[in-house]
Amino acid sequence: MTTLSLPFSTERLLLRLFTPGDLDDVHAYQGLPEVARYLYRQPLTREQCVQSLERRSSGTAWAEDGDDLVLAVCSADEEKVLGEVVLKLASAQARQAEIGWIFNPAYGGRGYATEAARATATLAFAELGVHRLFARLDVLNTGSVRVCERLGMRREAHLVESDLDGERWGSEYVYATLAREWKTDRA
Ligand SMILES: CC(C)(COP(=O)(O)OP(=O)(O)OC[C@H]1O[C@@H](n2cnc3c(N)ncnc32)[C@H](O)[C@@H]1OP(=O)(O)O)[C@@H](O)C(=O)NCCC(=O)NCCS
Repeated sequence: MTTLSLPFSTERLLLRLFTPGDLDDVHAYQGLPEVARYLYRQPLTREQCVQSLERRSSGTAWAEDGDDLVLAVCSADEEKVLGEVVLKLASAQARQAEIGWIFNPAYGGRGYATEAARATATLAFAELGVHRLFARLDVLNTGSVRVCERLGMRREAHLVESDLDGERWGSEYVYATLAREWKTDRA
């Protein structure tokens, strides 16, 4: 696997590594209960955001199982962080990667998450040699389900009560797509 060339641009967005200076923008969404609702964890405190930005700013190593690349998604015309896309290497040997997204609801409903995820998927296949890209999400997370379907990912599994979200049993969908299915018209 190689290293992703950063930053990169889409029609409306710039995707880059996070920096410590992104703290206010990141805490503005990571601190919201509505954003954490289907993430199976609590919203992040400001201090947790500081720590996470320190880790994220350090580089783009993406070689071993569990490595993740977290990209800040900014609007192309200003530096403000709108959200993030995560690409996690689930299996280096089998070239399997998991994609995820978290956006500030203040910038929702404009297709930014879909645009950023589509560009990240294209780079994962084209530059990182990913064979299969998958997403795992709570079945109640309809916004995220729609992102997967807009990307043309296939719903491959419905896992019933596969995780515990506080006292609620959460059920999940797994969506996936293969490199050979990722046509250039989706890029
Ligand atoms: C999941 C999440 C990113 C989806 O956000 P979103 O705003 O619905 O997704 P997008 O940014 O892709 O916007 C899509 C919407 O914008 C609309 N839209 C408006 N202008 C658009 C444009 N120019 N291009 C594309 N879509 C546009 C689309 O029609 C769509 O609306 P719809 O879902 O009502 O059909 C967001 O809900 C989130 O961050 N949730 C919290 C974190 C989370 O749960 N992450 C997933 C964990 S698995």
